Amino acid sequence: MLADGEFHISEWEDGVEVWVTQMGPLMNMNTAFVDRGNGLVAIIDPYDAEAWEAKLKQEGLKPTHLLYTHTHRDHAAGFPGMMKRFPELEVWGHEEAKVPNLLGNVVFRKVDFTNTWNCAADESVNWSAGSISLSITHSPGHAPGHVTIHGHGVYHAGDLLFVRSAGRVDLPGGDPKAQQRSLIKAKEILSSLPAEWRLVPGHRYDDFKGKVPDWIEVGDALKHNYFLANITIPR
Ligand SMILES: [Fe+2]
Repeated sequence: MLADGEFHISEWEDGVEVWVTQMGPLMNMNTAFVDRGNGLVAIIDPYDAEAWEAKLKQEGLKPTHLLYTHTHRDHAAGFPGMMKRFPELEVWGHEEAKVPNLLGNVVFRKVDFTNTWNCAADESVNWSAGSISLSITHSPGHAPGHVTIHGHGVYHAGDLLFVRSAGRVDLPGGDPKAQQRSLIKAKEILSSLPAEWRLVPGHRYDDFKGKVPDWIEVGDALKHNYFLANITIPR
């Protein structure tokens, strides 16, 4: 189990490094993909800008891209600090994740995307920078414009899925029907991935086999996540 701000670093078979950390009182999980040769660092939902800056600096790196699963306040907590430190960052999110209205600001944080994805619900697009190559899937339900991000041995679920459970749909902008479709799509995608890939949830909330793990292998998630195990893919 990662301590607050501790990093797990591994290298995928194609040379891209995958960094995973856990930060803050809600145990937000952050994943980053690092292409050292090209000096590229793409971070999903960075929580603590200061901690990320310090760790990357130790390795002679700095962030180049932020990728947002959605713009709930906790997931976007690091946005202002990141922009202050690295104003040249490219900031990516789904077009529909732009903050909708004043009421929503209780729940959402304004993130100024420099670039957006605009695929329909349940559709995927490819995103790449140097050797980093990811699939972005529009998975609304928990929040408008929510996406999941997978590649290099990791499926970063954001708040669509946790280790054993799934994200809530009762916040402003939540949509239970869309969530059900997104979960069905997630099951399709996860079923197509190697069982040993890691599903990294948006938060470390759930227990599994007597521990509260930072991630779960995809094969275990398909069997033991309540929603993935029980939802039916329509024929
Ligand atoms: Fe969320």
